Amino acid sequence: MKPVAEACLRNQQPIAEVLSDILANAKAVLELGSGTGQHGVYLAKCFRHLKWQLSDLADCIPGMKLWWQEASLDNLCEPIELDVTCDDWATRRDYDAVFTANTIHFVTLAVAEALLRGAAKTLQKGGLLCIYGPFNENGCYTGDGNRQFDQWLKAIDPEIGIKDIEWVEDVLRQCGMVLVSRRQMPANNLMLVFQH
Ligand SMILES: C[S@@+](CC[C@H](N)C(=O)[O-])C[C@H]1O[C@@H](n2cnc3c(N)ncnc32)[C@H](O)[C@@H]1O
Repeated sequence: MKPVAEACLRNQQPIAEVLSDILANAKAVLELGSGTGQHGVYLAKCFRHLKWQLSDLADCIPGMKLWWQEASLDNLCEPIELDVTCDDWATRRDYDAVFTANTIHFVTLAVAEALLRGAAKTLQKGGLLCIYGPFNENGCYTGDGNRQFDQWLKAIDPEIGIKDIEWVEDVLRQCGMVLVSRRQMPANNLMLVFQH
């Protein structure tokens, strides 16, 4: 049976709406930490001009393949195993956009940094990095919902949790990327878009 992430069902349409102009000129998107693969399936259906590559850790691949097989879309590539902490994935400049949803706060600072640096490295000049999820601003929560969510995350693992926008911007600035768009999303989430 296909794994289902309920949150994906709630936020896939708002995500597609904001990405429709952001990815209008993109051709090939690498998604990092795709999870069940639901976002990729939905977005590949919405944006038939894009080649969409799903990826995640090995454990997620069998479930994601069920979504990929069922969708049977010619612009949705077979899911690949990709651990952002491994170096080899970031050297191929095959993509003009990278998308990731709900990953940065689910991992440690070191893993989040590897994701950001790797994404910057894999993108072509002018490439876009789209990051969806909750963020803190200047070390503060942007709402009570995010505060509770962060406490819940830290109870699972004290090393993970919501990251500061300023930290993300700083890491990506060091990689030659700048914040070009910031869109408010439902439930105190943001879509941040960085460009090379
Ligand atoms: C909360 S889930 C989000 C899944 C999906 N993007 C979504 O929005 O439903 C976080 C994802 O990050 C992935 N992840 C964690 N560490 C990773 C790593 N080192 N490399 C790649 N993905 C990783 C997990 O496997 C998981 O699928």
